[in-house]
Amino acid sequence: MLFSGAFLALSLALASNAFVTRTWDEAYALANNVVSQMTIDEKLGIVIGTGQLNSNRRCVGDTTAVPRLGIPSLCFQDGPAGLRLVKNVTGWPAGINTASTFSRRLMRARGVAMGEEWRGKGAQPSSRYSFCLPLGKMRNPKAGRGWESFGPDPYLNGEGAYETVIGVQSTGVQACAKHFLANNQEHWRYGLSANLDDRTEKEMYFYPFLRSIEAGVVSVMCAYNRYNGTSSCHNEGLIGDNGLLRKHGFKGYVVSDWGATHDSAADNANAGLDMEQPGDYIVIGGGVFFLGKLETAVNTGAVTTERLNQMVARILAPYYHLGQDSGYPETNFDTQKPDGSGSRNLRVNVRSDAHTALAKEIAMASSVLLKNNRTVNSQGSTVRGLPITKGVASSIAIVGQDAKMLNTNCNDLNECNDGTLTVGWGSGSNLVDFTIPPVDALTSYIGTSATITTSLSNDLDDGANAARGKDMAFVFVNADSGELGAYTVVVGNQGDRNDLALWWKGGSLVERVAAVCNNTIVVVHSVGPVSFSWSNHPNITGIVYAGLPGEQTGPAIVDVLYGAYNPSGRLPFSIADSEDAYGTSIVYNSLGFPDINYTEKLLLDYRYMEANNITPRFEFGFGLSYTTFSYSSLSISSTSTGYTVSFQVTNTGGLAGTEKPQLYLGYPTSASEPPKVLRGFEEVDLASGESKTVTLSLITRDLSIWDTPSQSYIRPSGTFNVFVGASIRDIRLTGTI
Ligand SMILES: *[C@@H]1O[C@H](CO)[C@@H](O)[C@H](O)[C@H]1NC(C)=O
Ligand SMILES: *[C@@H]1O[C@H](CO)[C@@H](O)[C@H](O)[C@H]1NC(C)=O
Ligand SMILES: *[C@@H]1O[C@H](CO)[C@@H](O)[C@H](O)[C@H]1NC(C)=O
Ligand SMILES: *[C@@H]1O[C@H](CO)[C@@H](O)[C@H](O)[C@H]1NC(C)=O
Ligand SMILES: *[C@@H]1O[C@H](CO)[C@@H](O)[C@H](O)[C@H]1NC(C)=O
Ligand SMILES: *[C@@H]1O[C@H](CO)[C@@H](O)[C@H](O)[C@H]1NC(C)=O
Repeated sequence: MLFSGAFLALSLALASNAFVTRTWDEAYALANNVVSQMTIDEKLGIVIGTGQLNSNRRCVGDTTAVPRLGIPSLCFQDGPAGLRLVKNVTGWPAGINTASTFSRRLMRARGVAMGEEWRGKGAQPSSRYSFCLPLGKMRNPKAGRGWESFGPDPYLNGEGAYETVIGVQSTGVQACAKHFLANNQEHWRYGLSANLDDRTEKEMYFYPFLRSIEAGVVSVMCAYNRYNGTSSCHNEGLIGDNGLLRKHGFKGYVVSDWGATHDSAADNANAGLDMEQPGDYIVIGGGVFFLGKLETAVNTGAVTTERLNQMVARILAPYYHLGQDSGYPETNFDTQKPDGSGSRNLRVNVRSDAHTALAKEIAMASSVLLKNNRTVNSQGSTVRGLPITKGVASSIAIVGQDAKMLNTNCNDLNECNDGTLTVGWGSGSNLVDFTIPPVDALTSYIGTSATITTSLSNDLDDGANAARGKDMAFVFVNADSGELGAYTVVVGNQGDRNDLALWWKGGSLVERVAAVCNNTIVVVHSVGPVSFSWSNHPNITGIVYAGLPGEQTGPAIVDVLYGAYNPSGRLPFSIADSEDAYGTSIVYNSLGFPDINYTEKLLLDYRYMEANNITPRFEFGFGLSYTTFSYSSLSISSTSTGYTVSFQVTNTGGLAGTEKPQLYLGYPTSASEPPKVLRGFEEVDLASGESKTVTLSLITRDLSIWDTPSQSYIRPSGTFNVFVGASIRDIRLTGTI
């Protein structure tokens, strides 16, 4: 909120500096011209990665340059929360926190800023970047990589995808959407089959990819898992000429996840796979099918030359489309030396004050205030609860290993969850070097205004002893998850979490502290929903769910707790007491790769809970503020493209704040949709007493369902209910269409 004006200006300025310099037709004309001059070896060098084991490789995946035709190597790099294996970059808040902001402005600004850092790290003489965005990966709350995405709701994922792709590509960096499709758990991911019916496929899992295509995404990464029984990377229904992507207007190339290919070169190439990465490595049965073999397939006619040419053209067209052929910086890092050493690392710093401030703003805007029992004294100062008035408490305890600096020696994948949690583990992790942990930020802010006692081990007795008799206690607790790998079993969790409990006895730690301190403030850092069985404890006067806030975690939480920033984060998922409330599960045990039938269909998370009358502890879209808001004057009118829904929001409290009104649609019964589905949200900054009119648009597709017989979106006939409110269960205005 503090920076909103400045960042709006920044993101607009950058967006107008768009690098989309040529239409797709112009880009394809240039690409086809170059392809027509290439030898078969040059073509193969573009569709096959140069190899994970290649000592010349500078990125996580590279293609071979064709200098005589001015074609550079393409550089693929991990890190949807910040460039990975590279120093001097920003450690951004995770995707799930970006969803928590319910702010398109911040989704876009984060994409722009990440794009600037990727571009600023340059590319080899000369490579060009690709940034890959994970979508819709929280089918179950324990899903290991759910936090890399924008959560379980397809609409919120779609908006996050749209804004991020536009943001990233406005800097001339290629965006890629992954993992296509339904790559929703880590156990058995190298071969499980996700089996979806047509409507679930379209409305739930394809929808965020559709929004990426509408944003102009130039590549899509096919997944490790099988889909409807067939490997995603040779699944014509997904990636073929008449498959989902192309039928919905996708113009770029399909790249395999690292080692995700199966069967034969011809199977993959003919199904629609355009590039195999990294080219030389095998994971659990998948891996090397183009190297050496694609050439044979072309020579024998199993893959036509036309198809090979098309693969190369699809890879080169984005390069021209985004104007990567002129003025693109040269690479200045070497992924093979992630410590920044060696002659190929030029040690360029792409961090900036603006990026640090934006990372902090997103961390603050994604902090969700879940509980606040505030009492004030006669001077209006906070005696218990939030926001804290500095100086009122003269003795403060800071408890929990999650408050202290994290162990940065857990290898590049951030695998140990020792210290404060800022990002999950695996290839979606980021640089943690610049992390400012909560204990440092709090200690520095509190200064000499109070005596501070710390207990940073999660030892229960030690924690209780530190808090006993203190005016206030902070407890920091967490839960982690990440990507599966042969090496990534973290504290017994194989990517996916084993359960919804807080790690390191966090729930017990909170209870032990609350038993001895009647002003206990709890901060939760987590990859997703956790057990909050303790949340109603009367001595717990404040709870902030801070998710995975990235490197600025400490300064951000200080501003939220002490009120320099009025929290406006909203839950991008529901928090229920048991996993049964979510209606899905993770398949941990199986004799061989399992079939996972998505029998819950459209009923994920809040959709399942509403349909089954389950009341979560904290619902989707929920989040408190230090002020209060009222809603009035709903009006709905039709337009040429659909409807607009307008209403007024007023700040009825004494502090400036930001409301995140949400629009849910209730379909006519005949449509067989969940009771309410998210179809709009807005970010509204309001001074105390101020009112603003909010207008949300619904296009006809927003009122449609996917109709299998006609294979199209069709608007069902009948009356729709329009619900506008502060969360899925806090509906303030209703109307009908
Ligand atoms: C997956 O299977 C469903 C049900 O048979 C079918 O409707 C859908 O089109 C399939 N999807 C793909 C991409 O093949
Ligand atoms: C990081 O940036 C600083 C300049 O701000 C530079 O001195 C240092 O060498 C860089 N280190 C790496 C590993 O890039
Ligand atoms: C504490 O605050 C919560 C909302 O944060 C509210 O539901 C609850 O009633 C409050 N309890 C008391 C005792 O004020
Ligand atoms: C709340 O804290 C006080 C100490 O301030 C303690 O005496 C009391 O038992 C606690 N209440 C509960 C329910 O644990
Ligand atoms: C909280 O505990 C303190 C002593 O630590 C006591 O002075 C105060 O009255 C208690 N407040 C409440 C509301 O229980
Ligand atoms: C998945 O659905 C198929 C087809 O309906 C069925 O044969 C199979 O047994 C189901 N698998 C599981 C694990 O439920």
